[in-house]
Amino acid sequence: MSGTANGSLTLTLDGSNKSLSVPLRSGTIGPQAADISKLYGSLGIFTYDIGYGATAACESKITYIDGDEGVLLHRGYPIDQLAEQSNFLEVAYLMLNGELPNKAEADEFHKGVMHHTMLHEQLRSFFSGFRRDAHPMAVMCGVVGALSAFYHDSLDITNEQHREISAFRLIAKLPTIAAWAYKYNIGQPFMYPRNDLGYAENFLYMMNAVPAEEYKVNPILARAMDRIFILHADHEQNASTSTVRLAGSTGANPFACIAAGIASLWGPAHGGANEAVLKMLEEIGSPENIPAFIEKVKDKNSGVRLMGFGHRVYKNYDPRAKIMQQTCHEVLKELGIKGDKMLDMAAELERIALHDEYFISKKLYPNVDFYSGIILKAMGIPTSMFTVLFAVARTVGWISQWKEMIEDKTQRIGRPRQIYTGSPLRDFVPASKRG
Ligand code: ACO
Repeated sequence: MSGTANGSLTLTLDGSNKSLSVPLRSGTIGPQAADISKLYGSLGIFTYDIGYGATAACESKITYIDGDEGVLLHRGYPIDQLAEQSNFLEVAYLMLNGELPNKAEADEFHKGVMHHTMLHEQLRSFFSGFRRDAHPMAVMCGVVGALSAFYHDSLDITNEQHREISAFRLIAKLPTIAAWAYKYNIGQPFMYPRNDLGYAENFLYMMNAVPAEEYKVNPILARAMDRIFILHADHEQNASTSTVRLAGSTGANPFACIAAGIASLWGPAHGGANEAVLKMLEEIGSPENIPAFIEKVKDKNSGVRLMGFGHRVYKNYDPRAKIMQQTCHEVLKELGIKGDKMLDMAAELERIALHDEYFISKKLYPNVDFYSGIILKAMGIPTSMFTVLFAVARTVGWISQWKEMIEDKTQRIGRPRQIYTGSPLRDFVPASKRG
């Protein structure tokens, strides 16, 4: 392979006189990409890229990441500015529409989303079909997927208004479904949403209030939750977003696509990491066990990883982790938690890891999930709900990416290729003749 100045790349097949000049495509920022869509037709070979680490599957205007520099932009705006100066629904508007809303647009969007927070009353009965001890992510996969059975009026993905109302419904109903999954698990009555509250505030209300008494959401905790939502809202073509796009590329309805995204997010290598961080801290138990744990992490044969560390894209400090760390201190201060054992252990782990050659050489830094679990735990949210909260926030990114894909005229069904390593052609052998 060799790059050329005029924006193409020449590929030559060794041992033959065949070669191909493939065009280089540029975005507004970031590395160029070789457009290899004609490669198979011209040279009869595919590209091989396990985990798609070097493959762009789409063009997108929503999120930009520079993993080496630790940069994350949504529609051009740095994540720290959004987390500090904006709010989650404003960020949702930005992702869906490309620009920040003015005051009137923001108010209208807020009203539009909050108008859809209630669930169809029949959807309530879905919850009782689950075991009480079901993991809330299992409930989320099932109930979100079931939404498509309730909104036949808006499933035409070619209709712009249908796409818009589906986006509103998903962003609005996910907190209600999440809070109800929790209430069902602990055996408390479902709390209906309150549209006079802010988005994160309403979520905390549905999680924590009971019908028997008045409940006032702590504004500092509501702000922290809103910030956690912003930090998790989108992260370009990660596993769950790619899952949503792949499902959506077939023309599947948005509710089914988001349910697929939730399933993909569930894994410990992705959305399940903050739950795994807390489990890890609990297992370590106390600070004096940290050095032995670090040795275990560095031993390849142990299969143990430092959860909340490392990222497929960031080879520098995850910019979200810094804001999360700051939010963590704010929340613990507000709740009057001094000398939290988990936080102290996390800080010590981070300190050791950032100075250890193993982590330095592999460019492993804390990711967004290293501190989020500690904040959520301090707020009284059980670990099994951590990934659920992530799903609530990421729904904004998923639906924005889905909408962008559907509106992209060049979009076609996603269909990766493979290198077949199974048996070559052979004839069927009847059971009586098999050895
Ligand atoms: N602890 C110890 N070693 C690690 C870690 C870790 N957390 N992460 C990566 N490594 C090592 C690997 O063993 C590997 O070493 P080698 O080169 O000697 O074989 C090297 O670093 C590269 O690791 P890969 O798994 O190839 O890196 P990849 O980019 O595929 O993985 C991932 C990224 C899955 C996030 C990984 O870093 C990890 O498992 N981290 C812990 C889980 C986690 O925190 N996930 C949350 C991600 S953020 C999110 O989803 C919101």
